[in-house]
Amino acid sequence: MGHRPALDVVLEGLRRLEYRGYDSAGVAVLDGAGGLAVERKAGRLANLEARLDEVGRDHVSGTTGMGHTRWATHGAPIDRNSHPHRDATGRLAVVHNGIIENFALLRAELEAEGVELASDTDSETAAHLIARAYAAGDTAGDLPASVRLVCRRLEGAFTLVVTHADQADKVVAARRSSPLVVGVGEGETFLASDVAAFIEFTRNAVELGQDQCVVITREGYEVTDFLGEPVATKAFEVNWDLSAAEKGGHDYFMLKEIEEQPEALANTLRGHFVDGRIVLDEQRLADQDLRDVDKVFVVACGTAFHSGLVAKYAIEHWTRLPVECELASEFRYRDPVLDRDTLVVAISQSGETADTLEAVRHAREQKARVLAICNTNGAQIPRESDAVLYTHAGPEIGVAATKTFLAQIAANYLVGLALAQARGTKYPDEVAREFHELEAMPDAVRHTLGVVPQVRELARELADSKAILFLGRHVGFPVALEGALKLKELAYMHAEGFAAGELKHGPIALIEQGLPVVIAMPSPKGRAVLHAKLLSNINEIQARGARTIVIAEEGDDTVKPFADHLIEVPAVPTLLQPLVSSVPLQVLAAEIARSRGYDVDKPRNLAKSVTVE
Ligand code: F6R
Repeated sequence: MGHRPALDVVLEGLRRLEYRGYDSAGVAVLDGAGGLAVERKAGRLANLEARLDEVGRDHVSGTTGMGHTRWATHGAPIDRNSHPHRDATGRLAVVHNGIIENFALLRAELEAEGVELASDTDSETAAHLIARAYAAGDTAGDLPASVRLVCRRLEGAFTLVVTHADQADKVVAARRSSPLVVGVGEGETFLASDVAAFIEFTRNAVELGQDQCVVITREGYEVTDFLGEPVATKAFEVNWDLSAAEKGGHDYFMLKEIEEQPEALANTLRGHFVDGRIVLDEQRLADQDLRDVDKVFVVACGTAFHSGLVAKYAIEHWTRLPVECELASEFRYRDPVLDRDTLVVAISQSGETADTLEAVRHAREQKARVLAICNTNGAQIPRESDAVLYTHAGPEIGVAATKTFLAQIAANYLVGLALAQARGTKYPDEVAREFHELEAMPDAVRHTLGVVPQVRELARELADSKAILFLGRHVGFPVALEGALKLKELAYMHAEGFAAGELKHGPIALIEQGLPVVIAMPSPKGRAVLHAKLLSNINEIQARGARTIVIAEEGDDTVKPFADHLIEVPAVPTLLQPLVSSVPLQVLAAEIARSRGYDVDKPRNLAKSVTVE
């Protein structure tokens, strides 16, 4: 809401948030004279823009508007399931993120009352319910009260934004377990899932808490709970600028983000070693709490889970505490053994992932202490955790995680060192040495980026492969899993990551003439035994016709006879190897995807924030 043409502001905001979902897009604009124009289109934002050009943008003009990009949950990604959804009069419009879990009941209730639903979505039920509350009863004519009343009936996760043609002086929004931030400008006010949508206009933001409702006008905002009681809010200033969310001359965001990894690492480590001690300054766990820990669980999904698998090796080695790393979606359904001396480390770039959030909730119910590692200030997971350690990787727009993966590994290592320090399993000078080794990693990663041209060329050669396998041992095993995940999600190619020692227990049957196999080698000096074992494994697969692509330490000549392609990365301590050996795998996946003609930043069926279980 403000003084600018809303359509332009909304479309630009959607462009910046398209990474959150790109199954369909839509806009609604109030013309200020009692009219409400809505346009929606399945597919990418470009389809909506083409539609707007077709119908003429003049018909969607006004200074109050909203928009939505969808990642389909209920109902196929087709035009009529796109948001905004309207009520029967067409005068009220709603956009919704999340899932309304009791929607079947609500839908049946509406249908029993004769309401005809125009879509297959859960979201449309909210539009009708709010419109009915607005039309009659105690909340008649009061849009904020109608929204609050309906929110109290909704189960599940939702961010709702509501406009009504008769209430052109305000926009009402509400949230539960889905993100919503307010942007406060001069004579204009914004609402978005992520500050990236309005950062061009204001850096002054306000985060909304759980079960809160906000009414914005051009002049400002008012936040209440779902009963209408005013609540205190937390304002913050966004400390990154627009260029951080722009491609900066790169072909696609993911490549820019791969190249930003040295800074992401340095920023994540900065300020965490003070006067010879590791300081987790954003944490609310006392040293005593860390001393009491007798078991660590790491819970996360996807790439964040792989960062946790890497951490397990380091934390167990440094602290002698048992560490279990578990997929968040499995964790709480398995009845894990937790108590107040269990530390649960929940890793999430977005801080919104529903599976991880539910794991956090479950852990806290069982009295475990939860430390979140998160890249998004004020997101739901850190808010619901006992303590938080932020990765300062900056905004990540490419749907596939890259710089946040490396930053997560660094943050996990800080947690491991803080535990070792508090528990005395490492002497202060050992902790200092480990930290300084970590501190040298931004330079090592910068050096590693020198492989990009070589990997790009290799990617073109491999683009027509049917499948690629990835092998590693020790910390190279999660690297293999991550390399395979990146390739699957970006290049839609079959890929598997294996612990190299497992190969002979079955997967070696997959090896056939010409099959590319990527191997992350350990250092011959750091882990001589593992190095020797992996050399034998490569020998075995090469003998069976595999095309070997070996990522090895610079100067490791022993590997050369077994490598059809050799990618050299700098020598670093064993536990830190994933920070360098992952980089060529990220580039490989992105460039294979590009060679196959796919959109690297927006792989099909995916979204950056997975806010549904
Ligand atoms: C893969 C990827 C995903 C995420 C996963 C967890 O490239 O990005 O696997 O890592 O969806 O997301 P966050 O870290 O936001 O919880």
